[in-house]
Amino acid sequence: MTAKLNVNIDHVATIREARKTIEPSIITAAVICEQAGADGITVHIRGDRRHIQDRDIELLREVVTTYLNVEMAATEEMIGIGVRTKPDAISLVPENPNEITTEGGLDVSGNLETLKPAVEKLRDSGVFVSAFVDPITSQIDAAQSIGIQQVELCTGEYAEMTLGAKAAHGEGSVRAAREVERIRQAAVHGTSLGMKVAAGHGLTYRNVGSLAAIPEITEFNIGHNIISRAVFTGLYKAVEEMIGKIRKS
Ligand code: PXP
Repeated sequence: MTAKLNVNIDHVATIREARKTIEPSIITAAVICEQAGADGITVHIRGDRRHIQDRDIELLREVVTTYLNVEMAATEEMIGIGVRTKPDAISLVPENPNEITTEGGLDVSGNLETLKPAVEKLRDSGVFVSAFVDPITSQIDAAQSIGIQQVELCTGEYAEMTLGAKAAHGEGSVRAAREVERIRQAAVHGTSLGMKVAAGHGLTYRNVGSLAAIPEITEFNIGHNIISRAVFTGLYKAVEEMIGKIRKS
């Protein structure tokens, strides 16, 4: 079975918010992604609302017919939004107001007391709960221990090794291969605990293949690279091409 693709459409909203206007519409974006074959739509509602707004979640909940995955920090405000809007899945992520993008996995083992009630609230409301973690056994164990149903493995370090000059040099490709193995082992571990395993962050048309070949990874969340390509090719084609890369592996 090939892995599913959820397209992260945050950066369609980034363009809209650059002018605080109504276009481009993330609703249109979500529909085009689904028509092009995406298995789901992912958005990240941040504390600073730099791209996705509260109303976007409400509208997407009504429009998305595949699978709506909402990333958020486990704050009281966000968990309230999750319980009220009930997306299909909520992915708990760490959030630092000064970061350009999510910088790494959530420290689940170091925050069990605050995360456990948040997970319980979400699960009680019928939402499937995922956590974005680094590919580290202890974090996966901690996630499982508080009822988190899926881990999304952070592929940021792998992605970094596949970029530009680093990828062109031997050391970069050796480290990328090492990171693929670390992600594979984490995926096997998560599956052995009965969890679903997803992956994402920094994935591109060029680097997704090695991870798509890992059978334990059942879902990818990919955004920036698809939206970047869509600027030149159109969103439908950009999504189709990414699906092609995942299925070929
Ligand atoms: N998964 C998580 C948990 C993320 O925070 C992000 C970025 O919002 C992504 C996946 C998508 O990353 P990218 O935009 O680099 O594809």
